Amino acid sequence: MEQELKKIETEEEIALAEKKARKILSTLGGWKRTHSCGELTAKNLGEDVCLMGWVQYRRDHGGLIFIDLRDREGLTQVVFSPEYNQKAHEEAHVLRPEYVLAVKGTVRRRPEGMENPKLVTGEIEVVVTEWKLLNISKTPPFLIEDRIEVSENLRLKYRYLDFRRNKLKQNIIFRHKAAQCVRNFLNANGFLEIETPFLTKSTPEGARDFLVPSRLHQGKFFALPQSPQLFKQLLMIGGFDRYYQIVKCFRDEDLRADRQPEFTQIDMEMSFVEEEDVMSISEKMIQTLVKELLDIDVKIPFPRMSYDEALDKYGLDKPDTRFELYLQDITDIVRGSNFQVFSKAPIVKALKVPGGGELSRKEIDDYTEYVKVFGAQGLAWIKIKENEWQSPIVKFMSDEEKQKIAERLDIKPGDIIFFQAASKEVVNDSLGNLRVKLGERFNLIDKNKLNFVWIVDFPLFQYNEEEKRWEACHHPFTSPQDKYLDLADIENARARAYDLVFNGNEIGGGSIRIHSYDVQMKMFEALGIGKEEAEDKFGFLLNALKYGAPPHGGIAFGFDRLIMLLLGVKSIREVIPFPKTQKGACLLADAPSYVDKKQLRELGIKVRETKNE
Ligand code: AMO
Ligand code: AMP
Repeated sequence: MEQELKKIETEEEIALAEKKARKILSTLGGWKRTHSCGELTAKNLGEDVCLMGWVQYRRDHGGLIFIDLRDREGLTQVVFSPEYNQKAHEEAHVLRPEYVLAVKGTVRRRPEGMENPKLVTGEIEVVVTEWKLLNISKTPPFLIEDRIEVSENLRLKYRYLDFRRNKLKQNIIFRHKAAQCVRNFLNANGFLEIETPFLTKSTPEGARDFLVPSRLHQGKFFALPQSPQLFKQLLMIGGFDRYYQIVKCFRDEDLRADRQPEFTQIDMEMSFVEEEDVMSISEKMIQTLVKELLDIDVKIPFPRMSYDEALDKYGLDKPDTRFELYLQDITDIVRGSNFQVFSKAPIVKALKVPGGGELSRKEIDDYTEYVKVFGAQGLAWIKIKENEWQSPIVKFMSDEEKQKIAERLDIKPGDIIFFQAASKEVVNDSLGNLRVKLGERFNLIDKNKLNFVWIVDFPLFQYNEEEKRWEACHHPFTSPQDKYLDLADIENARARAYDLVFNGNEIGGGSIRIHSYDVQMKMFEALGIGKEEAEDKFGFLLNALKYGAPPHGGIAFGFDRLIMLLLGVKSIREVIPFPKTQKGACLLADAPSYVDKKQLRELGIKVRETKNE
């Protein structure tokens, strides 16, 4: 029936129908729904029911009018028959897609051959005795059907219409279930849900702050929290022991498919705990979530991998462990090479793809462009043939080098090897990301796998090349491991931090915190934050640390990211009810927007003319 050609109406016809419809618009007038549109079955035969919803389709057939009536729960076929109510049938001719109506009628079995096994309600239909038109609708800018491809911008602008489509609706319902599951789990484990403020002071999580000007304190600004980090620590100092919140965080950073300027965390903190305690409760939570939502058993404990091993083998601190393709260090082999790109580089790593020799020049060129994003200068490669090595660089290699490479990489005809020679960071970043691309290209990734892995033993600090200073790898409240507590060895100090990685995506991160005032001050000092600046920015935390702070630690999960991965969708925007575009705008509300001069005056703000406005 769905294939049936829908008659395309002219604008005049639509306008005429609308005019007639307006005349019969009605209020609810005390009518109450008895059922949703997704629940009536043969069990309800003969019952008198009242349904409300939107017109999905209207079909006129042999004097009968059929409407697929839609609400959140599904579709029910309703029939207007002149035999039951002549006037009701006559008036039903005005119905158009997305009109809103209420029907009263009787459940009856569909005629033989007319059942729709795909629908829960597919055995029955409701034959209408009375109905009311509750609202009319313009013709929507896209059909409310899953199969129709609609541009993302249009979907974002008309988000409320996209909600009516099954896919997005199911994602949002799934998100709701996940949130409830998390709450149930954490409540049952003694966590208290406690709110923390949005109008607050900057918390350093590595991104830019969104600032909110204060009217009452002109010239001063609130910052929207990048996370509730400091407040959850204060809750521990206050003795709440176990806290959680499903909470919005705000970060003014460049957006990607898995990042939004406002996103949601499952934020947790616990007192009197060590790493394993936080990791253990977290993995139980994830296990419960996966079981309840997907009915899949994941094994705990999740494997633990050191940061060094992750970088060494996978090039990234968020390794996708679903496929076995590893980076291999060959710096020692090419140290004295004639190929200066290799001999002069700080490190050189290789990535062998068994059977990858089929890659075309065009594909290799594309990969070369791809790795440049990560700072690579080029991408050397060798195709291993039966009797020769095909490559632009093989002429620079000695037989000894070739033999050692062949042995270390255990090469076979048909393989391709990629090489990267650069700083450790560039080599790992470019080959690590290339590894993921190649995994996809050669179908090495088993999409049914749910691989979780904890990354542990992170460095405490990382060097910011641009700003020429050390910064906290996680955040400055993360405790050094015991043997680095004196913070004498910044370069090698390790953190009591852990990240949870799910199929190559970082879905959570946390740490055991510094709970000693002295260590916290030393930490700020190591970061080049003087006493005065520390007092100014974090005085409230520093002060609290003086009043008996318990040992504590916690973690935060990227809730949107987690939902995105559990649903297997490509973009975080598919699981956020009202997301921002890649450019950080809200197409629905048209935000950000200019504000009245009066508002600015009240805030004591003058906007400078900017060229690109
Ligand atoms: P972190 O900064 O690692 O830790 O954030 C925790 C998790 O939040 C998710 N995430 C994001 N998701 C969507 N859009 C973004 N822009 C975005 N940024 C981060 C990631 C990440 O793993 N206060 C600490 C946690 C702690 O120490 O307890 C924190 O916020 O999945
Ligand atoms: P060239 O000698 O510059 O033509 O480079 C020869 C090959 O080495 C080309 O395929 C380059 O893409 C590649 N190449 C250049 N720089 C690097 C580098 N730093 N690491 C790996 N390969 C590189």
